[in-house]
Amino acid sequence: MALEKPPEQDIVIIGATGDLARRKLLPALYNLFLRDLLCEGRIVGVARSEWTDADFRARALEAVREFGPLEFDDRVWQRFAERLTYVPAGEDIGRALGRTSAGRRLVYLAVPPSSFEAQVEALGGVGVDGGMSIIVEKPFGRDLASARALNAVLRRYFDESQVFRIDHYLGKETVQNILVLRFGNSIFERVWNRDAIDHVQLTIAEDIGIEGRGSFYEETGALRDIIQNHALQVLSLLAMEPPVAFNAEAIRDEKAKVFAALLPVLPGDVVRGQYSRAVIDGRDVAGYLDEPGVSATSTTETFAALRVEIDNWRWSGVPFYVRAGKRLPRRDTEISIAFRDVPKHFFEEMQCGDLPPNLLRIEIQPEESVKLSILAKVPGPEIEVKPVTMEFRYGDSFMGQPQEAYERLIYDALCGDHTLFARADAVERCWEVLQPVLDRLPAIRYYPAGTWGPKEADALIAPRQWYLH
Ligand code: BG6
Repeated sequence: MALEKPPEQDIVIIGATGDLARRKLLPALYNLFLRDLLCEGRIVGVARSEWTDADFRARALEAVREFGPLEFDDRVWQRFAERLTYVPAGEDIGRALGRTSAGRRLVYLAVPPSSFEAQVEALGGVGVDGGMSIIVEKPFGRDLASARALNAVLRRYFDESQVFRIDHYLGKETVQNILVLRFGNSIFERVWNRDAIDHVQLTIAEDIGIEGRGSFYEETGALRDIIQNHALQVLSLLAMEPPVAFNAEAIRDEKAKVFAALLPVLPGDVVRGQYSRAVIDGRDVAGYLDEPGVSATSTTETFAALRVEIDNWRWSGVPFYVRAGKRLPRRDTEISIAFRDVPKHFFEEMQCGDLPPNLLRIEIQPEESVKLSILAKVPGPEIEVKPVTMEFRYGDSFMGQPQEAYERLIYDALCGDHTLFARADAVERCWEVLQPVLDRLPAIRYYPAGTWGPKEADALIAPRQWYLH
């Protein structure tokens, strides 16, 4: 199905000189333009620096060359660059928000979370009308109270239909495929419940450290940076009931029911870790406390593992284990659905207990695949069984580069489609579920950079084990 261009509107990036704009937003907008999927209208950069249009264009060019698509086309770039303009924040913000002939504007708040509220108030000050919509980055607040306060400020000026709370995990192809896997195939639904599933695991592993974002990370940590948003969003897609229709409200209603059924996460359900200095492949890697912008006595977690329970008919008694961390051995985001053991062990290898159960593994990145492991008979006169894998890899089955998450999400917001964005009630509920642990943080455990986190994370899941290691 051919996509159409979104309706004409200006795109205003507040925080246009920052890292997010450089790494993600400007390359995504250029990509959309390249594919002829960008709306007509200006792209207005706003930030504190006293830049000119020419500075902004030069910076955008660098960004697109460094982080954009492989095919850079100078002529396309020239046409794209004509749309870019820059307004210093101190100047007339009203000018930045000037209307297109269609009167529509999409404002992207690409600023640090601590200034979201002030920015929304500033927009309110110059006048928000029905033609303006807004994208708010994560983390949306830093706890339940601040998320409620931010939602209240947004509600003062915007209708919920004008607000897009972005979580870029929802823009990933492999995350969206969870819904197609579950609701486009009939074979999974019958076993997608407590009768057949022993437990579910989600690992979001990164090998990088905090990449110069010390002051941001000190305010956030893994629980706020990854678990409250990316991890719980993925979990809701895994656990939700089939929606009544495949549209934004129906899907978001079902996700909300999963969040409503989540039991509060208590301190005893959580392991917090922080990476320490280590030598990896002969290279000396700094510990978190040595990173620039990090306090020498910081107890911010760079790793979190937790047990989550969904107290409803489908999932009661099935633990969901979630872990996320920086400076783990490799970049790998993966879901494992572990099915229950057979009721009777006929085969010798099974009696020893060291064969894995049937596992459905959904690899979100970097590999992008779905694998089902089953037991098979090894050819020969004896009955010998071994685990084997059936697999589907995106790269082998589909040609072409998948669309980048930000590209997809900006396109959807320009079209007014909320399906892949978080609703106010859901965001607040996710904070509410984590609030008990935020109020009483368990002690930090240390792990050497380049390992799979503190050993307490293994104890959390025992007698089961993490499949990714
Ligand atoms: C962001 C976090 O939301 O997601 C970063 O703030 C993290 O800390 C990033 O590195 C990971 O995104 P991805 O798409 O590389 O998994």
